Amino acid sequence: MVKAVIFDLDGVITDTAELHYQAWKNLANSIAIDFNREFNEELKGISRMDSLNKILQHGGVADQYTEEEKLELATKKNEEYKGLLIHLKPENIYPGIKEFLNALKQSNIKIGLASASKNGPAILDYLQITDYFDTIADPDSVINGKPAPDIFLKAAEQLGVSPQDCIGVEDSEAGIEAIQSANMYAVGVGTVEVMRKAGADLVLADTTELVWDQLQEAFTAKVN
Ligand code: G6P
Ligand code: MG
Repeated sequence: MVKAVIFDLDGVITDTAELHYQAWKNLANSIAIDFNREFNEELKGISRMDSLNKILQHGGVADQYTEEEKLELATKKNEEYKGLLIHLKPENIYPGIKEFLNALKQSNIKIGLASASKNGPAILDYLQITDYFDTIADPDSVINGKPAPDIFLKAAEQLGVSPQDCIGVEDSEAGIEAIQSANMYAVGVGTVEVMRKAGADLVLADTTELVWDQLQEAFTAKVN
């Protein structure tokens, strides 16, 4: 029985995945590394420092930067990203998300956030939806980032719900893998081919398809 829905944030609740893309692209280009959308898919769901390390490897320059210089680069990206975030407003919540959150509340389903982003709480505030969330898993509180299941398990633990009673919602390959490894039901939204390849239990083209009754039926059909 579904008792909780645990959300990823960037690219699921709002289009911040695009803002991450812009900020990383500018950072990569500033150090002469090519950056395109296909490569960007590999960064979705991945922590800030892991993303930077992947970018440097992609550019073949991973060994040319000290840890201190890497921290400077990551900070530079984050400052640009935070500058983009200040424009976020409730209107930027993806269509269907508010309706879905309201339906979950009405059915007494717990709501959690399992984002790798340290900017997660600020983004929920900009969007004015913090109060919907019963818990937010702190990415600093887990050792292993996605695709490891840790952050989804942490959110479930904080909610006091068993993983098999949770639905996880993600837009990234690493995130779907994390939900599956956590033994939760995985819903993928966004790039349909990527979500299919990642092995989501249910693939939705966009967030308007997050309809509580239908999701519950799909979950029950898989469990029984
Ligand atoms: C999410 C995004 C990633 C981002 C990570 C860390 O998982 O999908 O693209 O790198 O969070 O975000 P932060 O805001 O802490 O740099
Ligand atoms: Mg995401």
